[in-house]
Parts: sequence; structure tokens; C-alpha cells
Amino acid sequence: MISFCLFLAVIFSPVLCEQWKANVVKNLNALVSSCVVVPCTFSYPNEDLPTSRLRGIWHPFKSKQDYIYYEDQTRVLDSFKGRTKLLGNLGQKNCTLEITDVKNHDNGPFCFRVELAPTESDTSTKDKYSFVEECVTLNMLPDPPKPTLHSKDTGTVGHVYTISCTVEHSCPSHPPSLTWSRSTEDGVIEVYTDMLHGIWKKQSILTFIPEEKDDHSDITCTAEFHERKTSSATKKLHVKRVENNKHIIIPAVVGISIAVIFGVVCALIVKRYKGRIAELQSQDGSMWNRLSRLSRRIHSGGPGQFQSTQRVNKVKTHVSTDQKVPKPRFPSPKSQPKACHYKQDLDDGDDYMNTADLSVYGNL
Ligand SMILES: *[C@@H]1O[C@H](CO)[C@@H](O)[C@H](O)[C@H]1NC(C)=O
Repeated sequence: MISFCLFLAVIFSPVLCEQWKANVVKNLNALVSSCVVVPCTFSYPNEDLPTSRLRGIWHPFKSKQDYIYYEDQTRVLDSFKGRTKLLGNLGQKNCTLEITDVKNHDNGPFCFRVELAPTESDTSTKDKYSFVEECVTLNMLPDPPKPTLHSKDTGTVGHVYTISCTVEHSCPSHPPSLTWSRSTEDGVIEVYTDMLHGIWKKQSILTFIPEEKDDHSDITCTAEFHERKTSSATKKLHVKRVENNKHIIIPAVVGISIAVIFGVVCALIVKRYKGRIAELQSQDGSMWNRLSRLSRRIHSGGPGQFQSTQRVNKVKTHVSTDQKVPKPRFPSPKSQPKACHYKQDLDDGDDYMNTADLSVYGNL
């Protein structure tokens, strides 16, 4: 047969060598109540014919007389009436079939048959062929397949995060729609791919910038199939915070600033009062020094009257008293007006003892 065909091919044209052959997907998932598209191509040994001279038929494997698809609807099985359509162009040797509103009992197998009407005048079919070696069996899916989600395990706050949702189906004339549970304003890309053999892949890629509040939130992708059947997949979002220096820098800057301000204020205070403290200390020192010098002078029997000695003794007493008396009862020598008073008096000369005396007595 092959050698004969080759012989013919050499003599006539390669077209004649084509045989009765069909390429039909053997198995296909079909979602009940949705649609299914069965890809199909065929060839025949005659010269190429236009669609008008070809008649396509789909029938159950068991009976060639029962049509599930035919041009003339009246000859189609009641259970398939209005539900089948030839999507393929027979003139292009394409016998692709669509079954809509898929029923539980649409399992098949279903086979394609072609009838040829070689001449314009004679449309009665001369050649016919049922491709019963190539039939399709449908696996009924009562529930739609779940979409699958793909993404990085962890996102980062403020950084672009991408998650894809993918679902496969076999109804390209009514592809499912994919929707997201969160706002898609940041951007969604949809990709539709023919996976061949009747399987199509619909993919939605969502891109967004996660916030801190998105951590541990759920993200759901819902696939809505023809006739409102839905399925969904959910993923828990894990978002980690950026290694954000703000959290360390701000408190650190505040702390350092406070420390610096405090330090400057302290330094100013110290600077301002340092002079005065030193002054007071030196005043104290000079006062006590003078007093003790004075007392030594008087004891050593210096020139002085009885009265004056008496008075000095009183002063001396006062000095010793001063050392024993608790502070609250005796004014602090630091209190400036008195210190100044003392100083002035001491510098004044002769009558200084009297003034000192008076002052001491006044204080006591
Ligand atoms: C057959 O027809 C269907 C429906 O128009 C089309 O999607 C498919 O690509 C065609 N196949 C070939 C092999 O041309």
C-alpha cells in the first residue's frame, strides 16, 4: 500500500498520498455545566475540498447513526440538541468540537466522521469515513479545579511583591475569570496559554507593595468558570519589616540631643557660678585667716586696752561658738551681704573690732 502510494506520489501529486486520519485528544477534563472544546484535525486521501463539499459529524463510538453533532440539528440526539458546535473549519481540515452546558453523561467516547462530496454537480457523498481509532473520552469534573498560587514565602514592607494564580481548564470559548481578594490597583497581568491537547492555562499575576498591616493577612484568588462555578485558593501573607534604621536612629538622635543640651546647660551653669563659688571660698578663707591672725596677735599681748582685749575675747568666743553652733542658728558665712560687711569692716581700720562685735552680737 505504502509503495503503491509512493508510486502514485511520483506519478501524480503528493496530496493523493494523504490517508484517512484524525488527530483527536484522547482524554480531556470537562467541567460539568461549563463547556469543553475538543481539538481535532483530520486528513483524507482525496484532493483538498472546500468546506461546502465536506460534511462533518460527531457520533458516539458505539453507534454511527446517532449524531451528537450535525449541520442539520433535527438529526442530532435530543440530549445534545443545541449543545454542540463545530468550531473548526472543515475546509482547513479542522474538526474541533465544542460541547456547551456539559452534562454528567457526556463522557463519550465521541468520534469524528467526515463525508466528501467530490463534485459540484454531485453533492451525494462518494466517500465517508469514521475515525473510530481516534475518539475522545471526557472526564467529568463535578467541581471546578482549584487555582494554584505561587509567590515568594515572605514579602518585605515597601518592596514589590508578586503572586500568581493559575488555573487550568478546557473551555477556551469561555475562559474562567480570576479575581483577587485585595485591591488590584497596583497592577494585574493576565496570561492565557494554550497548553495543547485541549488544556488551557489562565494566569493572573498580581503585583503590589505590602504594608506592615499585611503581615499574616490572607490573600485569596477566586476562579469563576462559565456558568458561575467558582473555586478559590488562599495563602497567608508573610511580610517582614525592612531593616529600617528609623527605629534605631530616631530614639538615638533624640537621646543624644537631650544629652548634649543637658551637658551644655550644665557647663553654662558651672561656668557662671564657678567664679562666684571661688570668690566665696576665697572670702571665707581670707575672713577666717584674718580672724585667726587677729586672735593670735591679741593673745601674744599686743598693744591694746583692757576693753579691747575683752572685746577680742568676745570675738574669740564668738569664733569658737561659731564652730560648734549648728548651722541654722548661725548665718552662713557665704551669705554675701554679711561677708561683704565683714570684709569692709575688717578693711576699715581701727574701729573694725566694734563693727565686727556688733555684727556678731546682732547675729547671736
Ligand atoms: C482548529 O479550530 C479551532 C477553533 O477555531 C482553533 O482554535 C484551532 O487552532 C484550529 N486548529 C488548527 C490546527 O488549526
